[in-house]
Amino acid sequence: MKNRKIGVFDSGVGGLSVAQAIQKALPESEIIYKDDKQHVPYGNRDVEEIHGFVLPILRSLVDEGCEVIVVACNTVTTNLIENLREELNVPLIGMEPMVKPAATASKTGIIAVCATPRTLSSERYRWLKSEYAKEVKVLEPDCSDWPYMIETNQINHEKIANIVNNLCGQGADQIVLGCTHYHWIEELIKQMAAGRATVIQPEQPVIAQLKRVLQQLT
Ligand code: DGL
Repeated sequence: MKNRKIGVFDSGVGGLSVAQAIQKALPESEIIYKDDKQHVPYGNRDVEEIHGFVLPILRSLVDEGCEVIVVACNTVTTNLIENLREELNVPLIGMEPMVKPAATASKTGIIAVCATPRTLSSERYRWLKSEYAKEVKVLEPDCSDWPYMIETNQINHEKIANIVNNLCGQGADQIVLGCTHYHWIEELIKQMAAGRATVIQPEQPVIAQLKRVLQQLT
């Protein structure tokens, strides 16, 4: 496959884990990573405000020659990807909570989605639930302070363990990481949930989609 310039964006360090996985899967590609350290975290902000922050950053990735952009942020994807697709003339690949795979895999009929408040309040997320999770109960724990915690590298194990234990205690057997910041604590959450729940996130499906899109580029 021809070497390509791929843009990856997130509000902060979340998307970096995705960028690393992409680089590993496509070692020949050139990845330009951009974040928004000035305004991270996005998760509690207004959608309009986030739009105003994100658009110029994605435009700068296009100006720098990126032929495709991975929006490695569930908050931006679930609220704004359609608008951004209209505003930019490169393919955008988004990341959103894996509601469908979790609901399909669940044996207890209870799944948990860990995401930012703005993701949980988005129309797209509501649609995902109504389309794919009608038959299951969806737990949505308050993880609103996790992005800040991860961004500043102040991981509070006890706080995370309380939430994970609570979810497993309520019978959740699938825990969806619906925020790329949480990918950094995936192993920790897996250890905490071991034997009780499976932890999933969309990095690999997104890389597969990226490969498909790259193949279609002339
Ligand atoms: N990493 C982002 C996400 O996937 C946003 C976290 C934040 O800025 O609050 O939703």
